[in-house]
Amino acid sequence: MLIAFILVHIRRIIINIPFNLPYLTGAEESYLLEALRSREHCGNREFAQKCIALLQERYGFGSVFLTPSCTAAMEMGAILADLQPGDEVIMPSYTFSSTANAIVLRGARPVFCDVAPDTMNIDVSRIEALITPRTKMIAPIDYAGIPCDMDAIQQIAGKHGLTVMQDAAQSLHSIYRGKPCGSQAPLAAFSFHESKNFSCGEGGALVVNDPALVERALILQEKGTDRALVLKGAKSKYSWVDLGSSYLLSDLLAAVLLAQLQQAEEITVQRSRITEAYYRLFTSYEQKGCLSLPHPSDDVTLNHHAYFVIFDRTESQQLFLSLCRQKSIYPYTGYLPLHSSVMGRKFGYQPEDLSLTEALASRIVRLPFYTDLQGEQLEYCLEGMQGVLGRIYPC
Ligand SMILES: Cc1ncc(COP(=O)(O)O)c(C=O)c1O
Repeated sequence: MLIAFILVHIRRIIINIPFNLPYLTGAEESYLLEALRSREHCGNREFAQKCIALLQERYGFGSVFLTPSCTAAMEMGAILADLQPGDEVIMPSYTFSSTANAIVLRGARPVFCDVAPDTMNIDVSRIEALITPRTKMIAPIDYAGIPCDMDAIQQIAGKHGLTVMQDAAQSLHSIYRGKPCGSQAPLAAFSFHESKNFSCGEGGALVVNDPALVERALILQEKGTDRALVLKGAKSKYSWVDLGSSYLLSDLLAAVLLAQLQQAEEITVQRSRITEAYYRLFTSYEQKGCLSLPHPSDDVTLNHHAYFVIFDRTESQQLFLSLCRQKSIYPYTGYLPLHSSVMGRKFGYQPEDLSLTEALASRIVRLPFYTDLQGEQLEYCLEGMQGVLGRIYPC
């Protein structure tokens, strides 16, 4: 009895289930060394070109610009979309600050929309009611890697003459109705932050599917200069021709990214086991009405970026978090809605303006999710959560 008790505690001390842990494929070191030794470390060099070619070929993207982050990619996208002061952009409140910042930095105004509980993505049925003569863009996100309803969004955008920038930070390798996420909207932004399925520490990509925007994107990425023309041999000297910034990913990071992108399929298969395991664990609690789970539609294929659970009450959410922590398992509460944040209030929003988003955010939990969460670690995590659920919902 005593030995069993000691063993349980030793296991608890040894095993620690963080919320996230970057994965290593094994090829990163040699690629990184190769990039280092090439003495060509700036943006758009050999490894960047390989990443770009792979992304275009595998996912059918238009032009791809590797950037220092998804945040930077969206800032670039907002300039390309020609957002002006006073313009309005419809976006979910349930997202990361970067989606809104890209808009606000142009002097435009975020108009927050509620989300649908089965995916936590923008509730498409509420978009049209938010359109005004000032609306210029819709900026949906693919929460937890679940594709938003891009056909419906594009259809609304087309009907009202709006553009779309998809915050696809979490959804590389997810597929919506046979089309890879990021291949449909005129602009889409991805993240390669260490918390993502395929990462290089910090990194991102802007996909420009509208060919009319490509020339300006080349200039924006290169500090507002026409350096790309010099590199192509079309000009002998480059000069300052437009707005811009340093929206480039170093080739050292592109080398790490290439290793990860090349193994996207293997990574996704490994991650799918975590989704299945969580689904098996939580589904009976959903059937009993204790909580609800993500329900992506049948016509999407997931990249298994994340898994979330929406508890019946905030008290259950809080208890789940604290009891898991006692077992060295670290789920996370997810985003705080943007509309009721300090910045959101400056735009005139009150929490009750999007009461559904507010309620869901106060009950949601994102579960630990990383590619290496397999075998004994996954078992420990599931057993631990099973015990916690038994305490919250005894029956
Ligand atoms: C939906 C969403 N958008 C944007 C970002 C920002 O990505 P990055 O850290 O690459 O700038 C994140 C990061 O987690 C995100 O989840």
